[in-house]
Order: sequence, then structure tokens, then C-alpha cells
Amino acid sequence: GSYAGALRPQIHFSPPQNFMNDPNGMFVDANGTWHLYYQYNPTGIVAGNQHWGHATSTDLYHWVNQPIALFPPEERVYVFSGSAVVDVNNTSGFFPSQDNGVVAMFTLARYYENGTAGPQTQNIAYSRDGGYTFEYYDTNPVIDSISSQFRDPKVSWYEDHWVVVVSYAQEFVVGFWTSPDLKNWTFASNFTAHGLLGAQYECPNLVKMPVRDASGAVIDEKYVLAISIQPGAPLGGSVTEYFLGDFNGTHFTPSDAITRLTDFAKDNYAAQFFYGVPDGQNQVNMGWASNWQYAQRVPTGNLEGWRSSMTVPRVKYLTEAPRIGMVMVDEIYDLTPILDSRLKNSTFGNGTVALDYSSVDSGALYIEVNVTNINTFDLKDYSTLNISFASPASGEILQSGFYFGGDNPFFVNRGGIKGFDNIFFTDKFSTADVYSTGSDNGIASWSMKAVIDRSIFEVFVDRGIHAGTVVFYPTQPLTTLNLAAQLPAGARVSVDIWSLKSAWA
Ligand code: FRU
Repeated sequence: GSYAGALRPQIHFSPPQNFMNDPNGMFVDANGTWHLYYQYNPTGIVAGNQHWGHATSTDLYHWVNQPIALFPPEERVYVFSGSAVVDVNNTSGFFPSQDNGVVAMFTLARYYENGTAGPQTQNIAYSRDGGYTFEYYDTNPVIDSISSQFRDPKVSWYEDHWVVVVSYAQEFVVGFWTSPDLKNWTFASNFTAHGLLGAQYECPNLVKMPVRDASGAVIDEKYVLAISIQPGAPLGGSVTEYFLGDFNGTHFTPSDAITRLTDFAKDNYAAQFFYGVPDGQNQVNMGWASNWQYAQRVPTGNLEGWRSSMTVPRVKYLTEAPRIGMVMVDEIYDLTPILDSRLKNSTFGNGTVALDYSSVDSGALYIEVNVTNINTFDLKDYSTLNISFASPASGEILQSGFYFGGDNPFFVNRGGIKGFDNIFFTDKFSTADVYSTGSDNGIASWSMKAVIDRSIFEVFVDRGIHAGTVVFYPTQPLTTLNLAAQLPAGARVSVDIWSLKSAWA
């Protein structure tokens, strides 16, 4: 596949060609190589015929496409989502003479000849070459099932045993099972019907994260249980929610009854955390940047022969945010390897920035905006900061910005982009309560970091407490940026814009 298409993201992972959905099997090995597997249809531009595609990276931006890692074992049996671990101590017995053996655990989904769904079971395969090629275990399945909706095992290590979370999708249950060896699994507990249900629970993830104070110091740690629901998200289609709590090796106990969403827009689903990030450090994940409502229809399929990218890699930890309580923060994983030149760096009160970035080959930018000294008692309707990206050729525009006086002060609007006409392709997204610092004394500051990459915009508001992932499909490339600030008296905005190097050129 060529990565030259006008809609093809240049700093994001997308498959060489054909259809991709969930990230799978992610782990980082002892040499610092990140492995990304993914739900892949190598023969079609819509979902179906699922295999595990594979790619590797040493910096999470430059990816090397690898041969397909898992193939369907039989006709009408497909390899659905799952995870992978490095079995350093050879608990499984598959690796008598090495400490870099990889075990993948995944769902096999059987279909009958008439097309109806048969049982979904949990299975393992092992790799003696560090995750490039796998052998199916000869006594699969390792967790049998009588359900056709039982899937997406995510394995992790807890003190002295393996734990897997797996979804009983249409019963709204996440099952917790334990194992000494990845082969023999014992039921431990169920987490049932919490939060938003939608029509199915999918792709659970259980992960331990540091809790940091506003200065960044680690003050605690907590478990996150993330569940992806689909269909039936509040904005339509698919979305991911998460719960905070404690885990004792067999049971997850939520700390509160709050349902938190990972994204305020619609294009971040089934994110998976990498296995192997050292204990106590921030976690790292990537999501599927699409939504089942329209993933199989987006125009990249007909125009360029591929569908879906992942989100940028994200660094995750927890923090206490004023008024909204404890939340998972998203930071963009270190962009240094793809940072190119600084195109703009200015500070002002009221004013505008106009930038023509048509000469940036990748079409990709990193944008940072900080507004300080906002007197929240002096906010007027006209106190705004708008940042938009446009195509002078077609007049298309992607808008985002901040309404200082409003209830939902940050917004993104893709309604001015014309290359995809679909009833479910929601135009506008917004998020509330985006001042986390200083609002007690009436003087607030506000920040935004974003990447735009041809057909995907990801924005991280207020230190990453609010994240929005928005795909968009212009008929002509967006090549100009405009920022306009009308701030309350005394407020200052500083703007920093960098071009990004293509990781695929
Ligand atoms: C989530 C999902 C998973 C399943 C996979 C199949 O997007 O439906 O539950 O394993 O996709 O491709």
C-alpha cells in the first residue's frame, strides 16, 4: 500500500491497505520495540475475514508493517480482538530456553454455513521469535463458551498470577479469570451492568495507573477498567467509558458510581493499553480512530483503498481535576522524532494568526495554545478564541475553539468539510468545564494541544483532561490555519505551531 493519498494520515498508523478496526495484542518488548496488532481484513475494504495485522515501532510514530501475525485457523472461524503478554518466566512452558516468549490470547469467532454466529471462545497462540510468527496452542480453547457473544480477552500480570478480563458482550458483564500459566483459567468474578450499557460491552482493559497531583508528582495509584460500548453511545455508535477503582487480584471494586468517557467526540474506540510498560509509570495506549456507525463507509476506502487509522499514541495517568473529580489524562506521546520546524511562536492579547501551511509536505501540524490571566468575572459572549483549518480551493473548513462565557466552552465542528455525506457523521462536538486552574480567585488559564493530520484532528484541552478525536474527509487538502482571539481585558494568548515530518514518506 502507498501512504501518499491525500487523506492518508502521515503521523498516525493506518494499515497498508484494506480494512482495519481494533488495536490488538499490544506490548512493548525488553528492547523497546512496540508491537501493534490489529483487527484486519486483508481481502476487503469493510469488516470481515478478521486476521491480526502487525506493525512494529521504536518511537510509536515510525511503523514498520510486518507480515500478518494470526490467520483464521479454519474456514468460517475468524480471529477477533485480544491481547498479548511477554512470558518472561516461562509460566506457560512454551519457552524452555528464552525470556522473550510472547503469548497472544484472543477470541475465535465461529460462523455457521448459513452465516449465523456460532460460539466465541478464548484461545492462545505463542511466539518464539518475539511476536512475529505464532503457533496455535494445540488444546485450544483455553476458555470455552456457550455464547456467540463472548470476547476480547485482555491479559495482565498481578503479583503472582495472570488475570484476564473478557466481555460477555450482550449480558453487560466483564468476567475476571485468573491463571498460573495462561493455559488453565479459573473464573474469579464478574463486573456487571455498570455505567452506560449501549447494546454490547466490548474490549475491556484493566490497567494500573499512577495518580499525579497538579505538579506532576505521583501521590497514589489506582486501577482503571475501560469498557467499549457499541452500538448505543450517547452521540451514536461506539464510545469508550472507564471506571476507577481498586483491584485485589480477583475483584475490581469501583471507587464511585461515576461513568467517565474517554473522548468528547466520536472517533476513539476500543483503545488498548500496551503490556510491558514498567510498573508505576504512566500507561500508554492507542485507540481505533473511527466509529462503527460509519467506519465501513468513509471515503478513504473507494478513493485510496484503506479504511481507519489509530489515534496518536497517548500517555495516560490519573489526576484530580477541580469540580469534575478524578480523571484519566491524555498526553500526546513524545513527538520529538517527528517534530519538524516551528512555523509560529507569538504572544498577544487580542489578535489573529494566519498561516499558510501548503508547503508542509506531510500536511500535519502540532499546535499549542495557552491562554493565561483570564478574568472569569469579566467574560462576555464575545470572549472567544477560534482556531480553524481551511482549504482555500474548496472553501471547506474545520473549526475549533473556545467560548469563554458558554456552558460548553470548547467545541470542534467538522460540518464545513464536504467529502463524506453520512447521516451519522455528527458535525459538532463540545466539552464542558475546561478551566482547571485558578478559577477560585476568578483568574483562570486555559490550554489546548492538538495535532491535525490530513483527515484526523485530535485535541487535548486543559492538560489533556478533555480529549476529542475527530476524523474528517475534505475534498481538497486543508492548508491554511486561522486563529482569532477576542479575550477579556488583561488575558494573553501564546501560540506555538510546528510542522510535523511524515513518518511514512
Ligand atoms: C469491537 C469488536 C470486538 C470484536 C472485533 C471484531 O470493535 O466488535 O468486540 O472482537 O471488533 O472485529
